[in-house]
Amino acid sequence: MAALLGRDLLSLADLTPTELQELLQLATQLKSQQLKLRCNKVLGLLFSKASTRTRVSFTVAMYQLGGQVIDLNPNVTQVSRGEPVQDTARVLERYLDVLAIRTFEQQELATFAEYAKIPVINALTDLEHPCQILADLLTAQECFDSISGLTLTYVGDGNNVANSLMLGCALAGMNVRIATPSGYEPNPQVVAQAQAIADGKTEILLTNDPELATKGASVLYTDVWASMGQEAEADDRFPIFQPYQISEQLLSLAEPNAIVLHCLPAHRGEEITEEVIEGSQSRVWQQAENRLHVQKALLASILGAE
Ligand code: CP
Ligand code: NVA
Repeated sequence: MAALLGRDLLSLADLTPTELQELLQLATQLKSQQLKLRCNKVLGLLFSKASTRTRVSFTVAMYQLGGQVIDLNPNVTQVSRGEPVQDTARVLERYLDVLAIRTFEQQELATFAEYAKIPVINALTDLEHPCQILADLLTAQECFDSISGLTLTYVGDGNNVANSLMLGCALAGMNVRIATPSGYEPNPQVVAQAQAIADGKTEILLTNDPELATKGASVLYTDVWASMGQEAEADDRFPIFQPYQISEQLLSLAEPNAIVLHCLPAHRGEEITEEVIEGSQSRVWQQAENRLHVQKALLASILGAE
């Protein structure tokens, strides 16, 4: 059960394919209430960016496990006044049992993990969003008998979600195609990591052609065209990204039983149309709910809940 006892989750690449499968299985058991786990531990949330789903789902997950949560808003701690990460980390480890961090630089997260002896979880950085992809894979697994061998196509910006999707699909034995405008491809180092995991057994395709990428896809996925921290670029990006919108026309090229995912928050009329996000193939609300179940499984596994 406690396969990840005491471990950090900074990247999906921190998991083996077996650990991923076990985590998804545990999430399924917790979701169905076939299994109930308890731990009397304290989670700190240190979020330097806005969040609805991640903040609330982590909080509720911890409450349901019988633990407690402290919201360490950077604006009301010394973090926003420049206290070094190394110092904050060595203090927080003395109060907390686990720390979930949402920030900009992956390096800042890595420094927290290096200096805090407690487990540190990536709750989103500019590079990765691993907890989101756990929920995405659980959703796909619920919708199809088996996800191994299926194709997930991501259309849009080669951002944190795209990076983690490549790793998650490779670990889950899924083919992954990332269709972005030229110059907006995913991080090359993460591409190399995903290729190493896939080891030639599954496809990892990067393309600038959204239609080519969508043909044959069982999961069609998108995210915002300008992520948090990139708001100033939004107006320049929109014309470039317009051909990458998930519309009914693009969705018609996917498998007839394809599902549509979006990590949310969504911008209707930009990366996805109103018809598609509210349409019969959308599974975005199930996907959002699954954040709670996978993060409860993650916390339970890391903290050794019984
Ligand atoms: N998908 C996601 O992480 O949502 P929040 O930014 O609301 O946490
Ligand atoms: N790529 C988005 C995801 C939000 C959940 C961002 O980083 O803002």
